[in-house]
Amino acid sequence: MEKLIFEKSKTGAKAYSLPSYDIPKSDINSLIPEGLIRKQDARLPETSEIEIARHFLRLSKLNYNIEEGLYPLGSCTMKYNPKINEKTSSNPGFTDLHPFSPDSINQGALSVIFELGECLKKISGLPGVTLQPAAGAHGELTGILMFKAYHEDRGDTGRTKILIPDSAHGTNPASAVIGGFETVKIISNANGRVDIGDLASKCGDNVAGFMLTNPNTLGLFEYDIIEIEKLVHGCGGLMYMDGANLNALLGIASPGSMGFDCVHINLHKTFATPHGGGGPGAGPVCVSDKLVSFLPNPTVEIRNDEYVCVYGDKSIGKVHTFNGNFGMLVRALTYIRMNGDEGLRRISENAIINANYMFRLIADNFDVPYDEHCMHEFIISGDRQKAQGANTKDMAKRLLDYGFHAPTVYFPLLVKEAMLIEPTETEAKENIDDFANVMNKIAGEAADNPELLTSAPQSTPVKRLNDAIAARKLNIKWTAAGGEE
Ligand SMILES: Cc1ncc(COP(=O)(O)O)c(C=O)c1O
Repeated sequence: MEKLIFEKSKTGAKAYSLPSYDIPKSDINSLIPEGLIRKQDARLPETSEIEIARHFLRLSKLNYNIEEGLYPLGSCTMKYNPKINEKTSSNPGFTDLHPFSPDSINQGALSVIFELGECLKKISGLPGVTLQPAAGAHGELTGILMFKAYHEDRGDTGRTKILIPDSAHGTNPASAVIGGFETVKIISNANGRVDIGDLASKCGDNVAGFMLTNPNTLGLFEYDIIEIEKLVHGCGGLMYMDGANLNALLGIASPGSMGFDCVHINLHKTFATPHGGGGPGAGPVCVSDKLVSFLPNPTVEIRNDEYVCVYGDKSIGKVHTFNGNFGMLVRALTYIRMNGDEGLRRISENAIINANYMFRLIADNFDVPYDEHCMHEFIISGDRQKAQGANTKDMAKRLLDYGFHAPTVYFPLLVKEAMLIEPTETEAKENIDDFANVMNKIAGEAADNPELLTSAPQSTPVKRLNDAIAARKLNIKWTAAGGEE
């Protein structure tokens, strides 16, 4: 096996040159608190610049990414992130700005926050916005806390329940519970939509709100949305839209027009900002008139031709330091401006066309729980292949051997052996054809030689992992041959 950088260390090799001290060396010990002074040198590898450059380039090549190929992770919208987003967000006028600088010299940054907020208000069809939340799940919690504040403000304190469909993403119930509510499951009907009878039977004066993803996580539009809205508002509850799937709706339908009071928008999905390994992301939240006064502090407004941070009395408070993950906001605004109204609509139209095209290319070879037009993603089941000896996980692993990232698997939980596939609008027809051909080939392999799948992947840097152990006893520490860490 190739040696790691730690093992290639050579005493005296250097990949850096530091400026000389600008304080006398003798002062250093008196300036640094005793407890923070190293007693021994740090054990770091010593290496030349070219070795360190090779090390990081090699590591980067071990990782699959959207610039390498199609990344059909359903519900995650792994679309290409245009390079111009990086250019605008790395403008020194933004990156060098001190977060504590006063509004009067922060006008450029505040204008980005204000303008992005206005764009998101227009897209969502809702009059209020906060850009602070750092991810979709954080946006959910922010929305739920506003629901709570709204009901408490009205003295309506008996509303302890949040209704959530059984197809929802796990973050929905988690956010509701962290926000202090109990959750009540609403079942899906045979068409994969909210069962209206079940919803009606659970709407009452103890309901604080309903959280719905539209299109839902089965890739289907909830066409009973007007009836749903009447039931929820009719019992005094509020409507929350999980906007993770907004990539299907841009310029076509808005959460506001469907009667939602609140929606979070995952900028790292719909608006092409990076899905960092856990962050930083951004999950802005747009709200109806009912919730505007509860938005996190501060919001940004224009007063006397100046952008100012405004603090409301009824606000739920801050949910992030300063104004959120600002670099993400610059990227999203760039993306929206570059596409314009028409471009945004085309994004959703093409995302839907690509998904339906891919769906039809592979539908005959898999079980299809909902055989109808899909929105921007679709769901198939690996149940047939499981009976042949290779399950959905095996197929996902086999895809890696063919050089593709696997789709979302075993989610939503409603569908046995689920694969949730989202090609996104940024894939060309040829790439979609290639992926579909490989999926069909894998279906054939499952029937003829399932061991090919159960022993996959064979071509990746790390072969099949025991995922239970990898999740529960993760050990990513490097250990030298002699056992030294
Ligand atoms: C439907 C749905 N809701 C919520 C989330 C949570 O979003 P985030 O990962 O930005 O916290 C996701 C993430 O994949 C999702 O797919």
